[in-house]
Amino acid sequence: MSSITIVGAQWGDEGKGKIVDWLASKADIVVRFQGGHNAGHTLVVEGKSYKLSLLPSGIVRQKTSIIGNGVVLDPQALLKEIARFRDQNIHITPEILKVAENCPLILPSHVALDQARERARGDKKIGTTGRGIGPAYEDKVARRAIRLCDLLESKTLNWRLDELLFHHNALLTSLGEKNFTKEDTLRYINEVATQILPFMAPIPELMAQYIHENKFILFEGAQAIMLDVDHGTYPFVTSSNTVPSQTGIGSGTGPRSGGYILGIAKAYTTRVGEGPFPTELFDEDGQYLGKKGCEFGTVTGRPRRCGWFDSILVKHAVQVGGLDGLALMKLDVLDGLTEIKIATGYELDGAVLHRFPYNLEAQKRLKPIYETLPGWSESTYGIRLRSELPVAAQRYIERIEALIGVPISIISTSPEREDTIMSVNLWS
Ligand code: IMP
Repeated sequence: MSSITIVGAQWGDEGKGKIVDWLASKADIVVRFQGGHNAGHTLVVEGKSYKLSLLPSGIVRQKTSIIGNGVVLDPQALLKEIARFRDQNIHITPEILKVAENCPLILPSHVALDQARERARGDKKIGTTGRGIGPAYEDKVARRAIRLCDLLESKTLNWRLDELLFHHNALLTSLGEKNFTKEDTLRYINEVATQILPFMAPIPELMAQYIHENKFILFEGAQAIMLDVDHGTYPFVTSSNTVPSQTGIGSGTGPRSGGYILGIAKAYTTRVGEGPFPTELFDEDGQYLGKKGCEFGTVTGRPRRCGWFDSILVKHAVQVGGLDGLALMKLDVLDGLTEIKIATGYELDGAVLHRFPYNLEAQKRLKPIYETLPGWSESTYGIRLRSELPVAAQRYIERIEALIGVPISIISTSPEREDTIMSVNLWS
C-alpha cells in the first residue's frame, strides 16, 4: 500500500493527531488537500509538544510536506507557524515544505468578513473559527481569489486586488464595518510575498514523481466528513470538501491516489460550534464524557458538545467517504460507565429512519433510537491487544462494526502512540 488517506468521520477533533503522527513517522510525503488554519492539533513527539494548524504533520519529523491547492492559505498564519517551529528548533526549509502555486490566499479582509458576518448572523451564527476560511473559498469559486502564483506578477496582482477589494468593501460597508485600502493590502502582500514565495513548488509534477517512485504518501484530512460542504450538516459546515474524494482535486493527483481510506471516530461523539447533533447529551453523562475526554477545542478553546456514538452518522460518513476502515479513538474515556448507548436509528415525526437526512430542519428534529450495551468497570487504558479488552468493550466494538458496515481497523486506548491496537496491515 503506497498511500493512505486519513479523514475525520464525525464533526472533527476525533483525535486524528495521534494516528496522523504515527502514520507520518512511516510516510515519505505528507499532504494537506483541503481546509486551512481552522484545523488544529497537538502532536507530542519524544516528549515535546507541537501545535499544528496549517502545516502538514510530517513537518515535525522533517518529512516532505505538501500544502496542496485545495488548502486556503493565510500567509501570515503560515509564517507564524514556521516561526513557532523555529523556536522549537525545527527549521522549515523549501526542501521540506512545498506549497502549491494555485493555493488561494486568505487576506486580512477575508478574516474581517468572516467575523463581521458571524456577528451579523446573531443567534443563527455558524460558529466559524473566524479565520477567513469561508470567504476565501467563496472567492475561489467566484473566480475572484488571489492565488499564490499571482504574487509573482504585479500587473495581475493589481487588477485582481481591485476586483477583490471592490467586492469585500461593498460587503463590509453593508455590514457597517471598516473598509480595506489597496495600499495597506498591497503593503501586507509585499511583506509576506518574499517570505512565502520560496516555498512555492509545482505540486502536480512533484506528486507524479513521488507516485512513480512508489513513495509512501499520507493524505492528511482536516475537519471531518460531517463538516463537508456537500455532505455535512449544511449550512453548519466548513466551506471545503472534506471527503476523501477531495485528495485528488486538492493535490493535483487524480482520483486514484488516496489508497487505503481510514476514517477516524471517537468512541462517542463531540462537536464544536453550532448545528444539529442528534445524540448530544445535556445530562451528567455528557459532562462525564466532556470532563474525562478533556473536550476543549484546540484552536478556539471552546468546550465541545458531547454525546453518545451515532452509528447512523458514521455510516453516512462511511458511505459518502468510501471509507475502508475506521480508527476508534478514546475508548478508555468510556471506562467505568455502567451502561453505554449507541444510536442505531432516529425517530423523525413518528417514522423510523436509518439514514442521515440532508434537510436541516429534519436534522434538528431527529430523536435518536438507542441500543443500550453493558459498560465495563476495568480500565482499557494502554491495552494493545483487542483480545485483552474487557469482553463488554469487545462487544461494543463488534456492534459498531456491524452497524457501520466496515471494520474497526485501529483502536486507540491512550494518547500514547504505542497504545494502539491495529487489526489491518497498513504497510503491506
Ligand atoms: P470554519 O471552517 O472556520 O468556516 O468553521 C465552520 C465550522 O467548522 C464551525 O462549526 C467550526 O467550529 C468547524 N470547524 C472548522 N475547523 C474545525 C476543526 O478543525 N475541528 C472541528 N471543527 C472545525
